[in-house]
Amino acid sequence: MESAHAHRKDEHLAIAESQYRQRLANDAFQAMRLVHHGLPELAITDVSLKTHVLDTEWQHPFYIEAMTGGSNKTTAINQQLAEIAQATNLAMAVGSESIVLKDPTSQKSFTIVRKSNPHGFIMANLGASHSVENAQRVVDLINANALEIHINSAQEIVMPEGDRDFHWLKNIEAIVNHLSVPVIVKEVGFGISKKTIQQLQNIGVKHINVGGRGGTNFATIEDRRNHAIDYAFLADWGQTTLESLIETQIANSQKIEVLATGGINSPLDILKAQVMGAKAVGIAGHFLHTLLTEKQAGLHQEILNWQYQLQQLFALVGAKDQHALTTVDYILSPTLLNYYQQRQTQNFK
Ligand SMILES: Cc1cc2nc3c(=O)[nH]c(=O)nc-3n(C[C@H](O)[C@H](O)[C@H](O)COP(=O)(O)O)c2cc1C
Repeated sequence: MESAHAHRKDEHLAIAESQYRQRLANDAFQAMRLVHHGLPELAITDVSLKTHVLDTEWQHPFYIEAMTGGSNKTTAINQQLAEIAQATNLAMAVGSESIVLKDPTSQKSFTIVRKSNPHGFIMANLGASHSVENAQRVVDLINANALEIHINSAQEIVMPEGDRDFHWLKNIEAIVNHLSVPVIVKEVGFGISKKTIQQLQNIGVKHINVGGRGGTNFATIEDRRNHAIDYAFLADWGQTTLESLIETQIANSQKIEVLATGGINSPLDILKAQVMGAKAVGIAGHFLHTLLTEKQAGLHQEILNWQYQLQQLFALVGAKDQHALTTVDYILSPTLLNYYQQRQTQNFK
């Protein structure tokens, strides 16, 4: 019999997958278009997708984002994802490992990832309320190359068993100062603000994942699990991934490296996020959906396709590498432009 915590992991998986189709109808990345120029003067073979991120060089600027672990079902999924990550040379994050701190029998669902991909770039994952010791434990468990600390106040509020105290900065500071690997502070789908970026920068955080709205929505997922009280009004809470990337531009924190997640459904979305400043882009829901519907071979092929298609898109916009993306022309929708202008001119935090 698996624990309630393990059961929650399975529920997340099932509800995220059932949400997947709805989200496509509401594609937040349509708020940005890239301008087409007919003479790129570049060959696809001239393009390098390499990115320098988390003190390492990655061959591809996208990765499999944190999803799962903790139950028997998710052990199988983690193994499949890790094998694909190895075969396609993608980085990968595991889902929150807080469950192993309470239930050591769940360890295998995470260690399988390192076992299946001994030399790959793997990120551990934990919530922001944990101690340095626990953070180091979950890193060591999978010999992780980096740790994602997720910040998810809007999700916790909707969870009946969620945290009710959000004093996290001191913990994050201690972890950032003492951990053996780089630390990414990651939102789980509600986006980031200039104020949050500055708070994180002040305590020495060097890597953030803006984790914007527009993809998997944990306010809605937890609302589906919470039958006692209705939180449907939080479905639109937070900044989209593009709005969050605008926040990083306005914050202009040169010392902080920006990653992005949330609603990435295509190589074009990856490119748009990169043009807006993301050094690497994580994908969760879409890859999960592909794995569940088209099996391991289907996801493997999809990632190979995306790697090639992204290279094609770089050529299409005349960018031979990531540095050249700063010169790509784009147009924002009136709504997104309005967001930009208000956030730029307001005397806001
Ligand atoms: C089933 C599922 C479980 C997730 N669990 C975690 C988690 O444990 N820790 C975390 O930081 N993010 C978790 N996420 C959030 C993703 O890492 C990602 O930030 C979010 O889903 C937005 O990306 P997407 O729109 O590509 O799904 C989970 C996502 C899914 C779909």
